[in-house]
Amino acid sequence: MVYNLLYRWGAPKIHCAAAFCGAKAAPGQNSTRKDLFMPIEFHAQSRTFHLHNRQMSYIFKVLPSGHLGQLYCGRAIHDRSSFDHLFEAVPRSMSVCYFDGDQSYSLEHIKQEYPTYGTGDMHLPALDAQMPDGSRLLDLRYQGHAIVPGKPAIPGLPATYTEDPAEAQTLTVDLADPLAGVTVTLSYTLFEQLPALARHAVIGYTGPGVLRLERALSFCLDLPDMDYEMVELAGAWARERHVVARPLAQGVQGVYSLRGCSSHHFNPFLAFKRPHATEFEGQVLGFSLVYSGNFLAQADVDPYHVTRVTLGIHPQNFTWQLAAGGHFTTPEAVMVYSEAGLNGMSQTFHRLYRTRLARGPWRDKVRPILVNNWEATYFDFTEDKLLALARQARDLGIELFVLDDGWFTNRSDDHGGLGDWEINYHKLPDGLQGFGQKLHDMGLQFGLWIEPEMVNAGTRLWNEHPDWVLHQPGRRPQQGRYQYVLDYSNPDVVDWVFHRLVSVLDGAGVDYIKWDMNRSISDAYSCAVGPAGQGAVLHRYILGVYQLYSLLTERYPNILFESCAGGGARFDPGLLYYAPQCWTSDDTDAVERLKIQYGTSMAYPVSSMGAHVAAAPNHQLGRSTSLTMRANVAFFGAFGYELDLTALSQRGRELVARQVAFVKQYRQLLQFGTFWRLRSPFEGNETAWMTVSPDRSTALVGDYRVLQQANAGYRRLPLAGLDPDRLYQVTRLGSGAQPAGAPLTAYGDELMAAGLVTTGEDPAAEGDFVSRLYLLQPAEL
Ligand code: GLA
Repeated sequence: MVYNLLYRWGAPKIHCAAAFCGAKAAPGQNSTRKDLFMPIEFHAQSRTFHLHNRQMSYIFKVLPSGHLGQLYCGRAIHDRSSFDHLFEAVPRSMSVCYFDGDQSYSLEHIKQEYPTYGTGDMHLPALDAQMPDGSRLLDLRYQGHAIVPGKPAIPGLPATYTEDPAEAQTLTVDLADPLAGVTVTLSYTLFEQLPALARHAVIGYTGPGVLRLERALSFCLDLPDMDYEMVELAGAWARERHVVARPLAQGVQGVYSLRGCSSHHFNPFLAFKRPHATEFEGQVLGFSLVYSGNFLAQADVDPYHVTRVTLGIHPQNFTWQLAAGGHFTTPEAVMVYSEAGLNGMSQTFHRLYRTRLARGPWRDKVRPILVNNWEATYFDFTEDKLLALARQARDLGIELFVLDDGWFTNRSDDHGGLGDWEINYHKLPDGLQGFGQKLHDMGLQFGLWIEPEMVNAGTRLWNEHPDWVLHQPGRRPQQGRYQYVLDYSNPDVVDWVFHRLVSVLDGAGVDYIKWDMNRSISDAYSCAVGPAGQGAVLHRYILGVYQLYSLLTERYPNILFESCAGGGARFDPGLLYYAPQCWTSDDTDAVERLKIQYGTSMAYPVSSMGAHVAAAPNHQLGRSTSLTMRANVAFFGAFGYELDLTALSQRGRELVARQVAFVKQYRQLLQFGTFWRLRSPFEGNETAWMTVSPDRSTALVGDYRVLQQANAGYRRLPLAGLDPDRLYQVTRLGSGAQPAGAPLTAYGDELMAAGLVTTGEDPAAEGDFVSRLYLLQPAEL
């Protein structure tokens, strides 16, 4: 029996927590501006919210009990004054019922927007808190709402944004449990051009005493079925973000981090795809948390196959104390809906994160081609050696020289030196400023590595401020990479590091910074706060990181920041807000990079993925691949080199010069084109991807085969994203990205349907690890 909601509306109003007339008048709600996007409807009679644009609909309503009931999330559907028929509730044995005498209305079986614990819902909640009387019972009911154009910023936290209020509309819904003194404001932003919904919550407390907030998630969505495969990005150091998919099953499944960073091991991302959805077709819901610390992202499937998707800060060791009048703001989470498979989902994330999460002058600019001295010299360098590398780089057309770890005192290996940030004048006789000047005089930009969250024992910082290290007094803190973690939850530490860095950076002429973070966080105990504050330390730590990023990006607005955490342990949307690119992985092997970059592209744009050509044999794996293969993989990223260029042969130098010239010509397309994954390295021996210009006139295809095959079958590679009616000239690019062989012409429809025939293009002489690039340009008719 479907619960007759209309009947309920007709019944006495005692169950309605707040009448619609309680809704707040929203500033701008009645704006007469014609260009304002107004996708959020509120139907007063049925108390239903319909958030919709041309691509998606998200519908929920204020239920008779005052709770928010989720009705629909998916493809855009016509608006109606009521969607009450989508409300489902049936009487089930053993259920706890909200209204006396009504067996069918149980919060356990009602799909909700922000469920709580203790008053009927039996699943893992979005919010959990303990009141001063020891109660954890919560019952949040609707109080009112507001709809505003655009998207208000979230103070202190990274978040997507609008540049013009016409780009999006934001709904805030106020809920309250007066007995508990808890208020919640749920915020929903729908973008006009994208099937993307951003959500976060603000939890307030009106007293008495102090509320212990122990779980405050950002996003909760109850889907009506479990007919999905869950796609996660999993891995470890040097093999980050491998794509793992599995069918949903009853129970809890998900990913998390308790490492203080988003981690190599899991990423704050999950997708739920219909079983038959592919890279190109079918429905997918993607979820991404704009946060860089401990997170939880999971699906909880109940016995009736309702799937509760939640994302937010991990509740482990999270307690936020709220006194009367206090508020806690969760990070933002973003949901993307796609009907064009995983590629469709990724393209929406790419566009949103590239244009409305990343900020600053570098957001829309092609990235300089860099050389990084790490794998070229490690700690073993002199200025002469660096300048020889720089000169060679400049002669090959490279634009930016990045001085990695080891430029400061007591840093001849990774056992010491972090924290004082004093220039090693033995290595750099004229200091950073002098070294930077020499690079600038050569016509190169100057990049610098820092690891500002860490300290080694024995440094002045360590000796003078032992209380600035995360540790519990009386307990020896654990080392990671021989170093300890500074207490970024303490604003004094952030302030000190900022001023220390300013004294290093001011006048040094730095154009780029690689901000590294090389260990998981343990011993999360702050000497700066008492017992009541300890549960907030890890979140405050991340807020401290965001604060330092804000201070540095404000002081040095033109510096290009690249984030890094032992490779890709903090490749997350939170840091993309401050640093538009991230070092994707410490693994620079071209074959491994196929999987890493393919997986990373699920949620993150190509322009954000640091990708370097390194030496052969590769330093992580000992595998040798050709310079062409290495570059053909790294082209699809923020491109650079990380090897001793002075040791290259004459032929090697020629190839590098051509690769550099090629990137300069095509980086707008490579870094900002529409990216398509064509063949998955997780499903076979071949990987392929491509990027297409916004007008679909030009494209570049990367096609890779890992192992040579004896007497292989025919090969055709269907392309994607082209204009079916356009005639393209397809040129295969050989070593040095130079045209190889005569171009062919073909219409876009043929290239997408019949595919690009690549049979016979892998001569046996090339052996393993073969790659091909294809350039598609408008053909002369
Ligand atoms: C980390 C980074 C590397 C390099 C080293 C320097 O491992 O990921 O790229 O900067 O630190 O110590």
